[in-house]
Amino acid sequence: MIILKTREEIDKIKRACQVVAEILLRLKEEVEPGVTTWDLNRISEELAAKKGVKPAFKGYRGYPFALCTSVNDEIVHGLPSKKKVLREGDIISLDFGVVYDGFYGDAAITVPVGKINERAWRLCKVTETSLYRGIDKARVGNRLSDISHAIQSYVEKHGYSVVREFVGHGIGRHLHESPQIPNYGPPGRGVKLKAGMVLAIEPMINEGTADIKILPDKWTAVTKDGKLSAHYEHTIAILPEGPEILSLPYDEEKVVFFDRKKSYR
Ligand code: MF3
Ligand code: CO
Repeated sequence: MIILKTREEIDKIKRACQVVAEILLRLKEEVEPGVTTWDLNRISEELAAKKGVKPAFKGYRGYPFALCTSVNDEIVHGLPSKKKVLREGDIISLDFGVVYDGFYGDAAITVPVGKINERAWRLCKVTETSLYRGIDKARVGNRLSDISHAIQSYVEKHGYSVVREFVGHGIGRHLHESPQIPNYGPPGRGVKLKAGMVLAIEPMINEGTADIKILPDKWTAVTKDGKLSAHYEHTIAILPEGPEILSLPYDEEKVVFFDRKKSYR
């Protein structure tokens, strides 16, 4: 069952999401050669405390940290570590969520460490654009897998592959609600999208094979071939007029809509 949200509930989720977005921006500024993923996690906890919100991931299914830090071939759920020192040319995915006033917000970005090569940059751009392509399909009357298909077709057109083991999700009073949102699939399947649905869409895209391995730490997912992976995530609400991205860094008065014809061609 998919829980539809009222505008008031969407606004509460949005408040949580704005804090997430602000913290991700701050973390992005901290990313530079020599910084450890442990430092980034500590900063995320400090910022959350300062803003009076609770990190959503810490303790969730036993996850031990506030932040997920996935470097290079790490896809998702990378564990912060004092030994993991960022080096020029790395890419790092930062995934963060909070609970605020009973509602969750969740978002992720992949950011460069210093100067990165063209190959890494292109993977990040295509992954981020695939997220917006998916968001553009989050419209009343479409079906759930129209989002999935938009992401997959864009990504594969660029020669990359979609991770199958992790999916996006509904979000609200819980971090993970129904439905699951795969980043792959044929168009026109699954539930009809309705106004009031709030979704966390999160493509994880690999440069090489889609196959993954889980490290002995039981959390960190890495690419099987050791090539790069990128991850972007937004929490969005489906409104009658179109999708609203809740996890943008600025509290814009204006709702963000995507012009069906003009966007991302
Ligand atoms: N954005 C990821 C997700 O929705 C992060 C979860 S980390 C976990 O699954 F620790 F909470 F599992
Ligand atoms: Co998520």
